[in-house]
Amino acid sequence: MCFVLSLMNVVLFNTTLLRQLLYFCEYMAKKIIIAIDGWSSCGKSTLAKELAKELGYLYVDSGAMYRAITLYFLRNHVDWTEKNEVKKALKEISLEFIHNDKSEQSEMHLNGENVEYVIRDLVVAEKVSDVAAIKEVRKFAVEQQQLMGKKKGVVMDGRDIGTVVFPKAELKIFLTADNAVRVERRFKELFEKNPNVTIEEIKANLEMRDYIDSNREESPLRKADDAILLDNTNLTAKETIQKVLKLAKRIITD
Ligand code: CDP
Repeated sequence: MCFVLSLMNVVLFNTTLLRQLLYFCEYMAKKIIIAIDGWSSCGKSTLAKELAKELGYLYVDSGAMYRAITLYFLRNHVDWTEKNEVKKALKEISLEFIHNDKSEQSEMHLNGENVEYVIRDLVVAEKVSDVAAIKEVRKFAVEQQQLMGKKKGVVMDGRDIGTVVFPKAELKIFLTADNAVRVERRFKELFEKNPNVTIEEIKANLEMRDYIDSNREESPLRKADDAILLDNTNLTAKETIQKVLKLAKRIITD
């Protein structure tokens, strides 16, 4: 009798321990999807990159994919008003994010070539919104984005992440900032690489892209109903990150 009781005690103790261990593992392994959408140049990628670093998540810059597709179309003189040409060209495109140990960033590769820097050029920015409005192009990019988020633990930024790519994302942020501040931020960023760039050009490009992105038929830019609106006009990058990190940690430990 005594032996049976002590055996039961051992079993119960180990079961409780096992349960606690399982709970701990589940907590440690709980991964979410963070979707960050918003207008051009309001700091989405800075925020997304830092969040991913803090949480040990994968960062996906969905805009880089549309930029790389646009670069391919421009280089290969693809007439993107022709559906069949677009379809044919997309079959020739392979996109890959590869981590660069030097820059400590994941960089966009188009058919094996690192295009991370060239896709930021104004020549690409001038056309990317037209290309990103094409149904076939979006299907091509969204399928790959959804695959990247299959295991969760992803921070993705773009225009339709919370509405189309991951409508069930656990945390959705819609980032915004005053127009003048956005133009100033993008100007500083591009001027470092190309001192010939003018503030007027940048302003015109942002206005044009915002207009096309929010008025297109396919997945227009809009705030998902359950997204949190965050205006970072008067916030530093660090303050923006801290705010969102707090929200993310609350969901992860819930
Ligand atoms: O850095 P910025 O916010 O200016 O642009 P980006 O994220 O590099 O995106 C470039 C362009 O790609 C946008 O202006 C959109 O036309 C398109 N895009 C999109 O349609 N959907 C996304 N999820 C991401 C970008």
